[in-house]
Amino acid sequence: MDATAAALLLDHYDSARRDLPWRSDSPDPYRVWLSEVMLQQTTVATVTPRFLRFVERWPTVEALAAASDEEILGEWAGLGYYARARNLIACARKVAADGGFPVTEAGLRALPGLGAYTAAAVAAIAFGQPAVPIDTNVERVIARFYGLTERSAVPAAARAFFPGARNGDVAQALMDLGATLCRPRAPACPACPLWKHCQAAASGTPEAFPAPKVR
Ligand code: ADE
Ligand code: SF4
Repeated sequence: MDATAAALLLDHYDSARRDLPWRSDSPDPYRVWLSEVMLQQTTVATVTPRFLRFVERWPTVEALAAASDEEILGEWAGLGYYARARNLIACARKVAADGGFPVTEAGLRALPGLGAYTAAAVAAIAFGQPAVPIDTNVERVIARFYGLTERSAVPAAARAFFPGARNGDVAQALMDLGATLCRPRAPACPACPLWKHCQAAASGTPEAFPAPKVR
């Protein structure tokens, strides 16, 4: 395990993936970073047109770094959380001054506005690193696949889905699965590429994984 599951997941991704403007067979780190920052608290549907306007106006991180705060904050308007836009500006200027994005997860994590999830997402998607971005969607897919009730067990288990090749596609395939078929309520198991190998589906009560957050 789980080269088989990863291969099934990738086959499905290759035929079903959403064509999003930051997805590419040769990803541009600037576009990957910008999309991940925008997606931190905003949906794909809202982000997509805003992302396209941004990259048309500023096609490179150097171009963005050279823009004024006012221009960038104006373009960001409506995407919420002023702090995110402030970090975006600081990050663009740091990366431009450094001559490009760091390629490691740890290097990315040190940039303004990049938390653990975003750093792992950019490392995997832009640089093919075996980094594992775990948001609530990915957490749910992994917990169900392995029949884990404990969320704390997910990060270690998720590693097995990253056998070394196409790490960025694996990450995005897990994100997509969690956003579509493996939704919180009434997951569409028979349509899922992981169905035959999935512990939660086999249990008959996939919604029971992971256990609800105690609060
Ligand atoms: N949510 C966060 N990052 C994403 C990505 N790269 N593709 C789809 N949804 C996402
Ligand atoms: Fe989620 Fe069902 Fe697929 Fe398992 S089979 S990963 S529970 S959608």
